Amino acid sequence: MIGPRVLEAALRLGEVPAYLYDLPALDEHVKSVRAALGDVELYYAVKANPDPELLRVLAAYVDGFEVSSAGEHAHVTALFQDLPVALGGPGKTDAELRLPHHRLHVESPNELRRLLATGLEADVLLRLNPGLPVEGAALTMSGPFGMDEDGIAECLPMFGDRVRLRGLHAHLASGLEAPQLLELARALLAHPYEEVNLGGGMAVSYVTPHTRFDWAAYGAGLAEHARGRRLRIEPGRALTVYCGHYVTRVVDVKRVRGEAYAVVLGGTHHLRTPATKGHDQPFTIVPTGGGPGVADEPVTFVGQLCTPKDVLARKVVTTVRVGDTVVFGMAGAYAWNISHHDFLMHPKPAFHHLRA
Ligand SMILES: Cc1ncc(COP(=O)(O)O)c(C=O)c1O
Repeated sequence: MIGPRVLEAALRLGEVPAYLYDLPALDEHVKSVRAALGDVELYYAVKANPDPELLRVLAAYVDGFEVSSAGEHAHVTALFQDLPVALGGPGKTDAELRLPHHRLHVESPNELRRLLATGLEADVLLRLNPGLPVEGAALTMSGPFGMDEDGIAECLPMFGDRVRLRGLHAHLASGLEAPQLLELARALLAHPYEEVNLGGGMAVSYVTPHTRFDWAAYGAGLAEHARGRRLRIEPGRALTVYCGHYVTRVVDVKRVRGEAYAVVLGGTHHLRTPATKGHDQPFTIVPTGGGPGVADEPVTFVGQLCTPKDVLARKVVTTVRVGDTVVFGMAGAYAWNISHHDFLMHPKPAFHHLRA
């Protein structure tokens, strides 16, 4: 599944566990996404992975960055002085409401009141939680996010020359295919706003890593819906997930009550994604070991943590030996940066960037 260039680089890393980011692959992918989007503005949701080297590649193609905290804001504005920043996120502090921005995504009428009380200028998108049915999503952002139509109506009279209403923002779910996202876009664009940020949430399949979200269909569909309006999207996962790899080594292979386990260095404190999403992280084994092992049978890959939740992949039929190198793919988004790094105080992974 993982290409020879990455596998060769993985074997040259030295100490593992380590993250290996394939920058040329990211460049190629984001270039093709950008080309499919036409006039639609592309922001990157920094929460997916704030690695500066990745951001530098992305900066050549995106129109801006979406940040969701003062920390992300400081990180991005230190790296790029000229790229627009959209600041969102629930529970913004007064200090966050004072941060310079291209757009501020307001989450509630009370947040708007606090923004007005700062006395500063602001360009606002109101975050709508439209209560639309979202079928088949990996994660639905309903509940406390944004506001309903009543909340929006409460906000509208508060705008003026200083705090300006620019339009609507919505991020409805994660893991949606182009036809579903276009259906949601159609419903959102029924609202009479000149500028609409449709959020992220483009589907990524950890089961079939070679399939990609249909950016061409999405771009063409949005162009049809736009009718002269300014549209923006802010994907995270679907941009950076493919370029990241978590490289580790098998330290033990054993059978417990009939089940085969491979214990690898590191674990979900470095790569939490399979634990949070409940999937098997796709991987390739490079037979560098030659130690004891198992052949052609279901193997569960676990890490070094003292918890039964430290599972990277379950009952995958494979051959694996002690000392083998395991390269987990699709580790470029919501991987290292959402993991509980300090649990058990194992060493942290190194980070490498493949440049050519
Ligand atoms: C407001 C907002 N925008 C964009 C994103 C990015 O979503 P994804 O990484 O699924 O594209 C998120 C993710 O939670 C979000 O909350």
